[in-house]
Amino acid sequence: MGDSDRRFEQPGHPAGPEEWRELKDRALDVAAEGITIADGRRSDRPLIYANEGFERMTGYPVAEVLGRNCRFLQGPDTDAASVAEIRAALAEPRECVVEILNYRKDGTPFWNRLSITPVRDASGEVAHFIGIQSDVTARRQAEDGLRLAKEMLDRDLRLAARVQQALLPPADVEAGTLRIAHSFHPCDELAGDNVGIVPLPQEQMGLYLLDVSGHGIGAALLSFTLNHLLSPAVEGALITEHTAAGVAVVPPARVAASLNRQFPMDRTRQYFTLVYGVIDPSSGSFRYVTAGHPAPVLMPRGGPPSAVAGAGLPIGMIEEASFEDETLTLEPGDRLYFYTDGAIEALNSGEEEFGHARLLEQLGRWRDRPLRAGLDLVAASVRAWSGGRLKDDVSFLAVERVG
Ligand SMILES: Cc1cc2nc3c(=O)[nH]c(=O)nc-3n(C[C@H](O)[C@H](O)[C@H](O)COP(=O)(O)O)c2cc1C
Repeated sequence: MGDSDRRFEQPGHPAGPEEWRELKDRALDVAAEGITIADGRRSDRPLIYANEGFERMTGYPVAEVLGRNCRFLQGPDTDAASVAEIRAALAEPRECVVEILNYRKDGTPFWNRLSITPVRDASGEVAHFIGIQSDVTARRQAEDGLRLAKEMLDRDLRLAARVQQALLPPADVEAGTLRIAHSFHPCDELAGDNVGIVPLPQEQMGLYLLDVSGHGIGAALLSFTLNHLLSPAVEGALITEHTAAGVAVVPPARVAASLNRQFPMDRTRQYFTLVYGVIDPSSGSFRYVTAGHPAPVLMPRGGPPSAVAGAGLPIGMIEEASFEDETLTLEPGDRLYFYTDGAIEALNSGEEEFGHARLLEQLGRWRDRPLRAGLDLVAASVRAWSGGRLKDDVSFLAVERVG
């Protein structure tokens, strides 16, 4: 009995060599894998052994395959590169593992994970090759199904992202004495952020920035819905109402309260933050509500930027939440900025946040640039801070009252 046979020995149960051979043959035959041995010294390496597993897998009776090269399993769609890889490994010779499309005797294809190992004799010459065949068709089909599903999902997401982009307001808007601009940077295909610039009765303008918790399809669906509800004069819209005197603008705090009633978190599993305000271009008066959203930043003409008042719970979080309007007046030359928390929470490689102070510094630095160009520069510095890998959507909206 050779050295390698020792591992079969059980103390107290010495078996004769014949009994061992039968036992090993039995073990080879019950294996689910195909096990084959080819003669490495004869030309074209004919098979000299195939187990029952090979027969079960391929449908070829063992007697029919002995003496033949195993390439008879290949067929019309077998990848020539895989065959070439085996050929190169056998010529060297070295061990190789490939997944190759093979055909059973009845013609049905199957994926064969084939490993071939050269075995040397005492003189070092390659005397045999041992092949192990595993049918991995089910796994390959599952992978193909997964890949196909992912491709379809990606296509849908790209389409939805295009719709989302199409619903954004123009990046630059002029309305009387107002210049309004936004800069919108989703971190994924679909954004949970949304921005709106909405013409209202009496030349007023509605402005909002909102940020739905989470990302992806759920966040985008809620964001699309809000886009509709925050549009003027559409069925079900919340920001205007019909009164005896005609169409009137609903005060922002009431809009926030309605949304809070319509979208409780226990129904939507999401909440959102919102800043929504209405500006009158003739007086510069701005009435707004913030709901869990970073307070807007006012940059007075010639003065340093600073956050203005803004408190209030995110929408959907608490049923009894109440919302208050704030007011301020934009003087000629003043700018007001809104941003989503993705801007200040962007992390650099050292896990440090971009932060509020850096945001104010950036807004101040680009104050002489046109509104939109300035926003894009601030957004670019946030993106650079995060090494180009934003983990949250980053959006800005700004309004300037010109003299
Ligand atoms: C032991 C052994 C088992 C093999 N088993 C398979 C197999 O299951 N399926 C297959 O497509 N090729 C198998 N091959 C590879 C082919 O026999 C052949 O080597 C390959 O097609 C490359 O050579 P060729 O270009 O001359 O055809 C095996 C080769 C050896 C040595």
